[in-house]
Amino acid sequence: MDKKLALAVIASGRGSNFEALAAACRDDRFPARIAILLTDNPEAGALAVAEAFGIERAVVDCGPKKGSMSPDASERMAALCGERGVGLVCLAGFMRIVKGELMRAFRGRMINIHPALLPSFKGLDGQRQALEYGVRYAGCTVHFVDEGVDTGPILVQRVVPVSQEDTVESLSARILAEEHIAYPMAVRLIAEGRVRADGRRVFIHDDD
Ligand code: GAR
Repeated sequence: MDKKLALAVIASGRGSNFEALAAACRDDRFPARIAILLTDNPEAGALAVAEAFGIERAVVDCGPKKGSMSPDASERMAALCGERGVGLVCLAGFMRIVKGELMRAFRGRMINIHPALLPSFKGLDGQRQALEYGVRYAGCTVHFVDEGVDTGPILVQRVVPVSQEDTVESLSARILAEEHIAYPMAVRLIAEGRVRADGRRVFIHDDD
């Protein structure tokens, strides 16, 4: 019997966070494995990453409405996850709001990574929003997904300094390096059964 937590990763683009998760899962001691990569974008770089790692992949047409997903697509994704015994859905640059059956089926078992220190700078272009606001520290957040946009309980955050020379590109790169640490860390905590959410607060139990 496979004791590892089965993950589905959903990505729309480049797939570097998916790649960080796939690389972590390659280690026998990592307590999770990726069962499937789902994308709404047939051009997503994440598809090539899945191929390179030998991970099953599926493109699901989410409909023409930007930032939204059709009820059919949500049902299809939920079914693909259900059939594979997925225990945790990881959104990794999925540029649509999750709703419908996928949300219902995986409430409390779906996490997202966002390139800002929530609750600041929700939505698109978190890194640009932070730079333009003038913050001294930026970072990334892994949080549970609820019906809102980047509003669910916070699991892991990592912080980076913002320098006067920063551009959106340089700050995004510094944040991305932390995303690649934060996401596997968050998945490990959940897979090891060390996470308990109580309302907005998420408690992490020590390894004993
Ligand atoms: C990442 O920076 C992720 O935090 C962000 O999209 C990028 C995806 O990159 N997600 C969001 O902005 C969601 N609101 P990747 O495809 O290389 O992982």
